[in-house]
This record gives sequence, C-alpha cells and structure tokens, in this order.
Amino acid sequence: MPRKAPHSTPQPNPRKIKEVAQILDGNKVRDQILDECRPRIQRVIDRSGRPPGLAVVLVGADPASQVYVRNKTKTAESLGIYGETITPDASITTDALLQLVRALNLRPEIDGILVQLPLPAHIDSRQILNAVAPEKDVDGFHPVNAGLLSIGAPGLRPCTPSGVIEILKRHQIPMAGRNAVVVGRSNIVGKPMAMLLLEENATVTICHSRTADLPAVCRTADILVAAIGRPAAITADHIQPGAVVIDVGINAVTDRAKAETLGPTKLAAFDKRGTVLVGDVHPVDMAELASAHTPVPGGVGPLTIALLMRNTIEAAERRVGLRS
Ligand code: GUN
Repeated sequence: MPRKAPHSTPQPNPRKIKEVAQILDGNKVRDQILDECRPRIQRVIDRSGRPPGLAVVLVGADPASQVYVRNKTKTAESLGIYGETITPDASITTDALLQLVRALNLRPEIDGILVQLPLPAHIDSRQILNAVAPEKDVDGFHPVNAGLLSIGAPGLRPCTPSGVIEILKRHQIPMAGRNAVVVGRSNIVGKPMAMLLLEENATVTICHSRTADLPAVCRTADILVAAIGRPAAITADHIQPGAVVIDVGINAVTDRAKAETLGPTKLAAFDKRGTVLVGDVHPVDMAELASAHTPVPGGVGPLTIALLMRNTIEAAERRVGLRS
C-alpha cells in the first residue's frame, strides 16, 4: 500500500470514518485511580500503624530518569505513601547494587521496591530485577510475577500495560472477542500487555520487528496497541478505520524535518519549544482513522505512575494481612 504524503498540507483522508474521534483521557483515569487509592492507604495505616512504603532506586544521574523518579515519589507523598529515593552513583557494581536491593527486601516498612531502568551498561539488569522480593516487586518485572500473570493468577502486574487495560475498561471499550494487536514484544510492555488483553478475552496477536507485512496484521486490529519506541512509525497503513488505538510510545522529536511530517499541531509545538513529544503512532492518521485513541502526552503516560501507586498499596495490603 502506498505511503501517504506527509501532513505539511492537510488533505482529506478517503478512509476517514468520523469527524471527531473519542479521545481517551489518561489524566482523568489517573485521577480516578488515585482517588481510589486514598481510602486503601488509610486502611493500611489503621491496620498496621504505618502507611504503605515505596523505595525507588535510581542509579546515576540520567536527567530523564530523574524526572520520572521525582514524579513517582512526589505522587506517592501527595497520597500519604512513604516514599524513599536511593541514588547510588553510576559507578556502583552489580554486587553492591544487589546488596542494596536485598537490604530493602528486609526492611519491614518498605512494601514496594522499584529499580529505575535503564541501568548503566556494566550492571547485570536481569540479576538486579530478579533480586527484588516478588512480593515487593511493584513494577511486576520479577519472573515470579511474570509467571503468575501468564497463568492468570493474582500477582503484581506491570504498571504501563495495566494502565492500558484501565483506560479501556473505564471508557467502556469492550475487549472480549475483539482482535487486539500489540506491536512490540518487550518484557516491560508488549508481552505483559498481550497477557492482560488475553485475560480480558481478546484474541491477541503480538507483532515485532520481524513480523511479515506489519501493516496488514495491524489492520486486523479492533484494538491496536503500539509499544515500539519509534516516533510516529505506525501510520494510516496500519490502522483499520474505526479501530481503538492505544499509543504507549513517548518520543521526543528534536529534528524539525521530522516534526514537519507530524502535522500542523505538532509542528507548531515544535516551533515554540524546539522539541515535541510524539507517540509511536502518527498523530494525524490516528485522529482521522481511529474511533477512539489515546493522545501523547496525556494518554497512557499518566497511568504508569497511578498503577505504581496502586501496586504499592496492593503489596502493602498483602503484607499487613488485608489481602491474600
Ligand atoms: N523506565 C522506563 N519505564 C520504566 C518502568 O515502568 N519501570 C522502571 N523501573 N523503569 C522504567
């Protein structure tokens, strides 16, 4: 199928199916979830005499990671969750980081442990993630939690894919019996996303860089989830008119030539700030073809932190005997 022309001059799209697509508002869903957290935090305090506790380990001084981590601990504290950030130097060894994680595993007032990724290249990330006690693994990255998810048993689930499910459910978008296509097979998003959609009785396909005729497979999707980390890589060719499109990507575009291909709104934002955020899906194509879609920013992004808070509370509830 031929590629569409870039969107520097808006053109009517022959496949356009409705004037206004429904925008799936991640900020609204985040606020709902955070509101639901508050009474649960109080119940943990009433039962145990202490709030849920979250420890975030940030190795080194990557500016983007620093922003993410600050947002996590700020949100925790605004809810009344105890938050602690541990910031070892980028030169820390795998062994020393293992000791640090093991010490957190033993601290009774810490219910959740999150090791911010990516870790420096010299650190064995898998060994570190495997060292987090599964009952404190609020990222849901430990093999025990991945295994529990894959057999449909209760456990801590990865935050971003859980956030996608919440967005769909809270906008009354049915999943059972629908064709869901997940683009991306990461352990953090793609694979658990597929498992969670399966749990909701969707018929699930996982695509990746070696998928033959990716656009054709994507066009079978009633629900299309893009999680590949490539700006605007999913275009009109990939979207069945009327599909629900969930864009997990958050990519900073710093190149004006690229910004020019993203439509007038993104280009104007770029020209104001010299950079613009775009998802993995072309924003104009998505808005024109999808019946409903998540914007970037303001879609899936806000949910990740909300689900981290919920996981921390869930871990605390189990640890203080409020949940089995
Ligand atoms: N880096 C980017 N996303 C994530 C996440 O969800 N969890 C952690 N620990 N690190 C990340």
